[in-house]
Amino acid sequence: MNVFDVYPLNDVTIVKASGSWVWDDKGQKYLDLYGGHAVISIGHTNPHWVKRIETQLHQISFYSNSVKIPLQQQLADKLGKVSGKENYRLFMCNSGAEANENALKLASFYNGRKKIIAFKKAFHGRTSLAVAATDNPNIVAPVNQTDYIIFLPFNDEAALENAFAQHEICAVIIEGIQGVGGINVATVSFLQKIRALCNQYNAVYIADSVQCGYGRSGKFYSHDFASVDADIYTMAKGMGNGFPVAGISISPKFEAKHFMLGTTFGGNHLACAASLAVLEEIEENNLMQNAEMVGNYLMEELKKLPNIIEVRGRGLMIGIQLPDEFSGVKKNLLWKHKIFTGEAKPNVIRLLPALNITLEQAGIFLQAIKSELQG
Ligand SMILES: Cc1ncc(COP(=O)(O)O)c(C=O)c1O
Repeated sequence: MNVFDVYPLNDVTIVKASGSWVWDDKGQKYLDLYGGHAVISIGHTNPHWVKRIETQLHQISFYSNSVKIPLQQQLADKLGKVSGKENYRLFMCNSGAEANENALKLASFYNGRKKIIAFKKAFHGRTSLAVAATDNPNIVAPVNQTDYIIFLPFNDEAALENAFAQHEICAVIIEGIQGVGGINVATVSFLQKIRALCNQYNAVYIADSVQCGYGRSGKFYSHDFASVDADIYTMAKGMGNGFPVAGISISPKFEAKHFMLGTTFGGNHLACAASLAVLEEIEENNLMQNAEMVGNYLMEELKKLPNIIEVRGRGLMIGIQLPDEFSGVKKNLLWKHKIFTGEAKPNVIRLLPALNITLEQAGIFLQAIKSELQG
């Protein structure tokens, strides 16, 4: 049997990792500014995280949601505190797509409607409604096609107002900073407009924080920059630092009913232990402040370099838009300078490092990209 070949792979096998460093099977060391796609939030093999999972593993790793799991309440308490949404409720699941799927479902249960507003270049996952709300026809199978989704231009307030006036809108789903779409930041006034229109029409504001959330932007949810609350926040990637876990944070306006949502694996003991370790590290080591500080430094220094079209982002979610003739920079960063970065098509380098990356590590990257751009 072979592996189903759906991923174009870099020819490298990582066998060891610590903090923001990884090593391949030949002993070569790399700086990791990609974090396995924004997943590594508190650093690879973070000792507190390892210990918490290990301790839990020796007690109980899994039982289903048919019994009490006090760790879920501990996690909800901690998440409420660290995210500043203490009156919200937590529902746990297993992936970003599943989180968005549940958020959309909850919205539709709430107001009984079907039309969802999503945005150009959005990515919300690969399950049925999440992929339908993703602006990439190549990954939408015929069975996922639906006319429930209305795609609007990002940050276009007039188009948003118009759509609300014309349709009975169930929900608006938006990334605070588009990730796969190339690091596009939602403006404060656009997020405030979404809030106002959702209030006016009794629609649901869903903040997809799967990639841009969990402290990465310097605030817990990047949508918080607009100083308005969403109705549902979806989260995954950084939540478990590599342990597969996801969740939705649900405003008090939704009433929970037994069986309206559910999952076998979601909220298991190990997932809760991993997620608690992440929040404890974020809180105790001020990682949101570090994300803001190192992120600002990176963006300021990048803006001084030649041959960059634009630097976009917030905190440690940074996009570097390059001209076509510099399309080889990402590969050179990996193979010449031994630095992992992410990308967004056609030519954006994406930085998604761990939130505890140091200024020194940021400096190593800046030297490397500088040497590439000076050409
Ligand atoms: C903004 C956003 N939402 C949802 C998802 C889907 O998450 P998952 O791959 O865990 O299903 C992703 C994944 O890249 C994402 O970036």
